[in-house]
Amino acid sequence: MKIGILTSGGDCPGLNAVIRGAVMKGDRIYGHTFFGIRDGWRGLVDDDLHPLSRHDVRGLSRQGGSILHTSRTSPFDHGGSERVKEVMDRHGMDALIAVGGEGTLTVARLLHEEGINVVGVPKTIDNDLSATDYTFGFDTAVAIATKSIDRLRTTGESHHRCMVVEVMGRHVGWIALHAGLASGAHVILVPEVQVSMEEITGWVLSAQARGRAPVVVVAEGFRPTGHEEVVATRGLDAFGRPRLGGIGDQMALDLQERTSIETRSTVLGHLQRGGVPTAFDRVLATRFGAAAVDTVSNRTWGTMVALSGIDIRAVPLHQATSELKVVPRHRYDEAAILFG
Ligand code: F6P
Repeated sequence: MKIGILTSGGDCPGLNAVIRGAVMKGDRIYGHTFFGIRDGWRGLVDDDLHPLSRHDVRGLSRQGGSILHTSRTSPFDHGGSERVKEVMDRHGMDALIAVGGEGTLTVARLLHEEGINVVGVPKTIDNDLSATDYTFGFDTAVAIATKSIDRLRTTGESHHRCMVVEVMGRHVGWIALHAGLASGAHVILVPEVQVSMEEITGWVLSAQARGRAPVVVVAEGFRPTGHEEVVATRGLDAFGRPRLGGIGDQMALDLQERTSIETRSTVLGHLQRGGVPTAFDRVLATRFGAAAVDTVSNRTWGTMVALSGIDIRAVPLHQATSELKVVPRHRYDEAAILFG
């Protein structure tokens, strides 16, 4: 078979490990050949692709970013399934492997419904895709955030300051929850749970009263009780969605005023998406790549590979894209016992 592979949407540590896993297994076990499609769906509709051999993917599992690069282009703005089919036919391409998050997998589902042979691989540092226990990239983002919070804590302690750390998490607070728990934060704030400024202030003051430098971890999509809108001061992204960010700065100002504790805020931003993947993400991404090739070889179109416990299985794309995997209330409450 001839298989095109693309990475689309925001990048994520482990993308290269998926590409390597797919090409290695496809070449060794099935004798498939691959095309690397540049910049996600953009490369497909612009016919910007190149052969991808075993040689091209050597040593890739530890490399951050994506050798194929990425974009947030939707093929439906550029000729849709007709154009995709035309380019695939021109190269004799039998199938596509699309590596991406919710937006990419929704596009993959729509293309499948219009007759394109496609298999998805779930990717996002946010870990917000249902139908898979974990997405690769999440573990790396949590490790980076945890290490950063540990560092911010020691400088906070030296100065008797309160440190507010803003992490990524547009709709879900998985990174905030896990990095906050791992680093022993005194307050964790996630988009799924609204908390009042009074309650947050209480936790901060109680940590200070015990002689600690209070650490507050806030996901970019968090809104305090009474606030309808998320903080988004950076304009729109390529999908026309508001670019989130700024809640950390806002929270730091407000907390300083309420507590009289000198407060600093740090936005971890894209640091959480850059650099080498953790061992966990390298393994998961490699297994996803190999499983995607099995799924293509079985011609199980319109599916996505997913982690279920310790096994990888194929699930329908609509199952993965129908709802976001949010932090359940009981997971937040379990963490909140440790606040203050
Ligand atoms: O979807 C992943 C994510 O990292 C979000 O948490 C964040 O809001 C967004 O991407 C930022 O993406 P960019 O700045 O690359 O458009």
